[in-house]
Amino acid sequence: MGLPHGWVSYGPVTAGPAGPPAADGDTRPELADVRRLARRLLHRAVSAARAEENSIWHLLASHLGPGVATLPVASGAWPQYDQVNVQAGLDVWLAEPGRSHQAVGITRFHHTMFGLADLTQPGLGPAQHGLGLASVSTDMLPSGPGGATRPCVRCALYLVTDPAGPLVALVQGTDEHSGQESVTVDVACADRERSEQVVDEIRRLAVEHNVFRGHVLAFGADVFGGGHPFTRIRRPLLSFLDRPGVGRDQVILPPEVLAGIERQVLGVARHADQLLASGQHLKRGILLHGAPGTGKTHTVRYLISELAGVTVLILSGDALRMIAEACSVARTLQPSLIVVEDVDLIAEDRAARMGVQPLLFQLLNEMDGLGADLDVTFVLTTNRADLLEPALAQRPGRVDHAALLPLPDAEARRRLLRLYQGNLDLDLAEPDAAITRTEGVTASFLKELLRRAALNAADGAGDTTAPLRVTDAHLGAALDELLDVRNQLTRVLLGASGGGQQGPRGADAVIGDPGQRPPRRPGQ
Ligand SMILES: Nc1ncnc2c1ncn2[C@@H]1O[C@H](COP(=O)(O)OP(=O)(O)OP(=O)(O)O)[C@@H](O)[C@H]1O
Ligand SMILES: [Mg+2]
Repeated sequence: MGLPHGWVSYGPVTAGPAGPPAADGDTRPELADVRRLARRLLHRAVSAARAEENSIWHLLASHLGPGVATLPVASGAWPQYDQVNVQAGLDVWLAEPGRSHQAVGITRFHHTMFGLADLTQPGLGPAQHGLGLASVSTDMLPSGPGGATRPCVRCALYLVTDPAGPLVALVQGTDEHSGQESVTVDVACADRERSEQVVDEIRRLAVEHNVFRGHVLAFGADVFGGGHPFTRIRRPLLSFLDRPGVGRDQVILPPEVLAGIERQVLGVARHADQLLASGQHLKRGILLHGAPGTGKTHTVRYLISELAGVTVLILSGDALRMIAEACSVARTLQPSLIVVEDVDLIAEDRAARMGVQPLLFQLLNEMDGLGADLDVTFVLTTNRADLLEPALAQRPGRVDHAALLPLPDAEARRRLLRLYQGNLDLDLAEPDAAITRTEGVTASFLKELLRRAALNAADGAGDTTAPLRVTDAHLGAALDELLDVRNQLTRVLLGASGGGQQGPRGADAVIGDPGQRPPRRPGQ
């Protein structure tokens, strides 16, 4: 008995083509039967695939009409780190009055690249790639300090209805498996102009509701070390940091040095409108240089504390490769501050040998490329200003102010001891002895000195609730320990030896700030 067309019996075949003949007559399937069975199986598989393909196509056609395949599609693309902002902009747009939507997830998108135009074709694309419909899956991406996150769709269709008519948006995050390098939004509806306007509107809202604005962010590469080996995707990740709270009284520097830095960074920010109105440029670059432990990072933390509401982008180590991305964010979210820590690390970038532009020159070009009227500050730090000198000399004008953070003089050392004393009871009969012995050390050395003296005091203290009382003996023993020749490495680590560090003469020579001397070794 024949089966209705399109049906296949899955009953067991009684014997294989090579099986023995049955005693009650020949019931073996003939070759033609086997072929027919194979054909039917294939037909069934294709039908199933078609059904799946059509489920996406039907969905689109039911929303946009049967002519969906010919509708124009407008597209927008954003870098990977902007995914959370695209989602923020999209969510705002979707929530506008009079607009309703339904979101449908797309599955099995990992090994294929496609756009909305592919999905609207009834007989193409999706079936080959095995895309399917499912509930929407999201990644929780950082959206603010303190661990705040926002769900961002990986790959989904939004079926939108508003007074202007039905519309479909396909939103895709980056995907290293498929080579999808950007975050994309494809929009289709009957009117091309409207599709383009919607993409523009989402772009505008993504900037307006940018979650990075006004926060302190660190650029860093992902686990792939900045790029997946099989694709060219670079995945700059931005992480939110808490804004530090360093007060002016916690920064112990010669008053004129601190005032010079403040004037360039904070003063220009404060008077930005007036300066701009009188035709002065706002973009500025400052270089903080000096021996390790003299407070370059500390000063940056103070500046960031003072610049509440300013977007701060911090680049250090490998993240320096993302300077172009950082500049792009800074431009969009100005007023902003870009901190490039330990810029000497890129002064001898290996890329130079491969014919690629060395990173340092890329940085200097980016600094130059930003519009002068943008309120963007670059703060570069280094303890090897001499390494930067040739590049800065070749491309002058990027750094308007170089500040040498010197080793603390006697008065500064006194202030530092007071600062890092905390709740310690400093009961010193000869306070000047420690000041004299610490000539040539750094601020961070003095901080550690007090901690060790406190430890010595704790060792001998009976009452564990009373404030620790540090005497000359405790402080002297701590100093002996730190200045002991056998502790050379510790001193280097505290930035107190001056050994191996070049004086900052280089950048002074370039930027014309003579009169500063290289650091001295302790006891010199
Ligand atoms: N001028 C200073 N005033 C007050 N505290 C300071 C000063 N300099 C350094 N310190 C203290 O020492 C710590 C280490 O200093 P910091 O990290 O700023 O040094 P740095 O100049 O950035 O060194 P490196 O070249 O190694 O990066 C700071 O966190 C701060 O506590
Ligand atoms: Mg530092």
